[in-house]
Amino acid sequence: MQFSVLTIFPEFFDSFLSCGLMAKALEAGVVSVTRINPRDFATDRHHTVDDRPYGGGPGMVMGLPTLVSALRSLPRPGRMLMLSPAGRPLSQRFAAELAGEEALTLLCGRYEGIDDRMFDLFDITPVSVGDFVLSGGESAAACLMEAVSRLVPGFMGKDASAEEESFASGLLEYPHYTRPEVFEGLPVPPELLSGHHAAIAAWRRQRSLETTLARRPDLFDAVALSREDAAFVRGLPRARAGRNMHLGLVHGPVVLKDGKVGTVSLTNLDVHDIARVSRTYGLGGFEVVSPLRDQLALAARIVAHWREGPGLAANPDRAEALSLVRLHEGLDAALAAVTADHGREAALVATSAKGPATLSFAAARELIAARPTLVVLGTGHGLADEVLARADGILPPLRPFSDYNHLSVRAAAGILTDRLLGDVL
Ligand SMILES: C[S@@+](CC[C@H](N)C(=O)[O-])C[C@H]1O[C@@H](n2cnc3c(N)ncnc32)[C@H](O)[C@@H]1O
Repeated sequence: MQFSVLTIFPEFFDSFLSCGLMAKALEAGVVSVTRINPRDFATDRHHTVDDRPYGGGPGMVMGLPTLVSALRSLPRPGRMLMLSPAGRPLSQRFAAELAGEEALTLLCGRYEGIDDRMFDLFDITPVSVGDFVLSGGESAAACLMEAVSRLVPGFMGKDASAEEESFASGLLEYPHYTRPEVFEGLPVPPELLSGHHAAIAAWRRQRSLETTLARRPDLFDAVALSREDAAFVRGLPRARAGRNMHLGLVHGPVVLKDGKVGTVSLTNLDVHDIARVSRTYGLGGFEVVSPLRDQLALAARIVAHWREGPGLAANPDRAEALSLVRLHEGLDAALAAVTADHGREAALVATSAKGPATLSFAAARELIAARPTLVVLGTGHGLADEVLARADGILPPLRPFSDYNHLSVRAAAGILTDRLLGDVL
């Protein structure tokens, strides 16, 4: 692999290239690194590479003349990448893709970045090493070079070690231990001392699944889990975090068609479908709120039909879902029931198709992980202001950029639950 690095600080890479596996790989010719300083291509006395930004604003911008000359001086640039916080995120998969190239050229920005016309002049892919801002692209380029080089055949002592690492299987890696067997009272997990290869492999796989669920549940999206994996993950306490969340369906006080506040009648389908969502996502319960006694009596009849009556014989799965339904005359009673279930005061999270949002989905996920939470949806034209006003937070609309925001409350409950819990929690 031939790396060419365009940088105004070539010395930055001195220590990086002179130690560890990188130094060995350079020596063995597995990788080679050429540093090119755009300053060397400046024609003025001060070797200027930057200039003031058009449109004003703070900072300087790396200009085209020196960068273009530096890049055009390369006989074999290969694939061109620019380190940038606005780039494609660097990942193990992306690193593996890049390791398949013969040559890579890395542009390290400084100041506010580079003149954007570079991207019109050359086919350059911007690459980010994370959602944070560095002072220059050099440390990002070092990350990229190291991640890519490790995947170049011959870089690592044993090729197998790259395959076992975090992300290689799509999951985070299991923990490692070495001698002594007991350190300050802390023993090495006995499974690793058993000498039984299958038991060790199973233990490692389970730790991998556990760590991934705890730290990066988003990674499960791209992993094919075996039946055993799925059963193991389901049994982990964190996978039951969904139980902290209860859905609430409020029939009053809600906004009516004419804009006034009142109560709407119950819809059989809502009760069925939201109960099924609640069961599928392992929620703590489904709280149906209506201030009207006859409506609650109707709901009780529907639920009883499926839970105990002829419905149970016809469809026991439905009975399982409807057993999560509880009926309440008001929001206070629903909140009190959730609080009583968990022995801790429940938070109230409201939803609105219009806003104003006061709680992001990310913040709501954290809330649910930490505390019992009743997430309420309004029937009719949405929850009344008095409900929004007393909520601990109001979630953003599900489709903030759509000009059509008229989901059925059943569909909204499903989408919302998935957005809050994802498919593994
Ligand atoms: C101070 S930064 C410029 C930040 C830029 N004004 C912005 O807000 O996106 C200077 C240079 O550092 C590098 N850099 C900073 N953060 C980075 C990141 N997260 N990933 C890759 N490169 C980064 C880029 O080469 C960038 O041009």
